[in-house]
Amino acid sequence: MPYYSEEIIEEVRSRTDIVDVISQYVNLQKKGSQYFGLCPFHNEKTGSFSVSPQKQMYYCFGCGAGGNVFSFLMNYNNMTFNEAMEELANKAGVELPKREMTYQDRQRESKREKLFEINKEAASYYYKILRSDAGKRALDYFTGRQLSPETMHKFGLGATSKYSDSLYKYLRQKGYEDEILKDSGLITLDEKRGGHDKFWNRAMFPIFDAGGKVVAFGGRVMGEGEPKYLNSPETEIFNKSKTLFGLYFARRTKRAQFILCEGYMDVISLHQAGFDNAVASLGTALTEGHAGILKRFVKDVYLSYDSDGAGQKAALRAIPILKRAGISCRIINMSPYKDPDEFIKNLGAQEYEKRIADAENSFIYQIRQLEKNYDLTDPEKKSDFQKEVAKMIVLEFSSDLERENYIDTVSRLFMIPKEGLKKYIRTLGEQGITARPEPEAKDFSVKKKPKDDGILVSQRLLLTWLVEEPTIYKKIKSYIGQDDFEDGLYRQVAGEVLSVLESDGIPDPGAISTHFEDLEDQKVVAALFNTSVGELTDGKDRSKALKETLLRIKKHSLEQAQKNGADFKSLIAGKKTLQSLEGVTF
Ligand code: UTP
Ligand code: MN
Repeated sequence: MPYYSEEIIEEVRSRTDIVDVISQYVNLQKKGSQYFGLCPFHNEKTGSFSVSPQKQMYYCFGCGAGGNVFSFLMNYNNMTFNEAMEELANKAGVELPKREMTYQDRQRESKREKLFEINKEAASYYYKILRSDAGKRALDYFTGRQLSPETMHKFGLGATSKYSDSLYKYLRQKGYEDEILKDSGLITLDEKRGGHDKFWNRAMFPIFDAGGKVVAFGGRVMGEGEPKYLNSPETEIFNKSKTLFGLYFARRTKRAQFILCEGYMDVISLHQAGFDNAVASLGTALTEGHAGILKRFVKDVYLSYDSDGAGQKAALRAIPILKRAGISCRIINMSPYKDPDEFIKNLGAQEYEKRIADAENSFIYQIRQLEKNYDLTDPEKKSDFQKEVAKMIVLEFSSDLERENYIDTVSRLFMIPKEGLKKYIRTLGEQGITARPEPEAKDFSVKKKPKDDGILVSQRLLLTWLVEEPTIYKKIKSYIGQDDFEDGLYRQVAGEVLSVLESDGIPDPGAISTHFEDLEDQKVVAALFNTSVGELTDGKDRSKALKETLLRIKKHSLEQAQKNGADFKSLIAGKKTLQSLEGVTF
């Protein structure tokens, strides 16, 4: 909830140039009236991310990310609206009134801020210890695992002191109260013993969020001890099932896929070996939340889980989760080594690169794992296995073409008689066993673009057109009004655009967009102002295209009105307008 007034939000926004702000994060190049660059919200090779200085909005033609300068910072830096507002106000030299915050807002805000600060303080504290006498053991450990000083620096690695309350004392002396220290998860409070550090006798791995802020830690025990790794508990700034270790670095990779592995050390040694696209979930199995985050950046993932039983199980669990999110994956075979870290130490980066190239299709991997459960020397078990395979093919693939291809490959790889397999699959079909419906892209960040029934495209096109060429308003105003737009967000935006034009103003998309708080709404608004007029009218006479667009919108809105039982008089009026529109040339 923004607690700032509309006026002051507008003041900050109008004194800020979105191009300046986004340039700090994305390399932008001017093309025509817009700036383009590689989209920071998904992985791509050609720049479909656009920033418009006129509209003061950004929009990605690839993934649909979009919004104004506030939503950019919110998305990119994991900020709340108020945090983005404060940062921009600060830069623009606008003094913000303090009083507009409600008490609760202020509490929550400053709490998040403090938690970020505490984690940052702790990270630099641990960082220093690692490089002091007290950190010798951890440093030897990291060095023993062949991490270079650069790598240790890059990942901000650290160590705890040997006293179990030294971070507590340090943070208290910095002025933090017990209450907030407890909520940071780094300190435990005990009535008898007072404050104590959660982590001690450990080598420390700070966990960064996607924007590079420390939000939590993992600590590896030195020597024997349980648990091997201890992680920060979830806090207001750390959500385990949405955080990926290494993402802050991986999001900048030039590779088109991510490597998903199990642990801290795997990620770090992969990065050190040049695989700057490695990430890991943290002390938890992969969740839908993780898959949603991954989908923001890549369409394909390589799984590089441990090759032991637990790792294989984890891979089998991860594959369908990734698939449901619309990510396809391949599995990297690291045998005879256990994990990427061990593999690279023994065989080197080049060999790992080869294993990436040879990574196995996830479906074939699933079958290979299944095969292990059957004694294939027993004809009965063997048939059971083959029937199971047939069922998997049927359930997984809906098109004949895909099925044919998989029948082909699978029968060859697993020595299943092809004709038999086909016949059995046909029988299954007759029994009504068919493919599951295409998975809904369960996607938390970039929603699949809503199905573009042409009418919405037309409405977006007209709004974009009005903003880019305000002069057409005079010609079309007698034919179209706010009510001709889809109920809800479209209509609200249209209302604002039309009323500005009516008073001879020029609509300001960036300003209009600040009336929508929700980040999903921001995206829709960005799309409303970024429907390519040029493209959609390409090759056609522009005035003809304009007329067609208007006709489509008008016809649709009349149909809707009729459906909704509008009164006779207004329907007649609408029909008349439509008729005159049909006769006009623009
Ligand atoms: P592993 O036990 O495979 O750790 O757990 P590793 O990264 O290979 O560790 P080293 O090489 O022995 O130091 C994989 C990941 O599972 C989580 C951690 O994120 C770890 O990196 N984990 C493991 C925990 O959270 N707690 C544990 O006790 C163990
Ligand atoms: Mn491991």
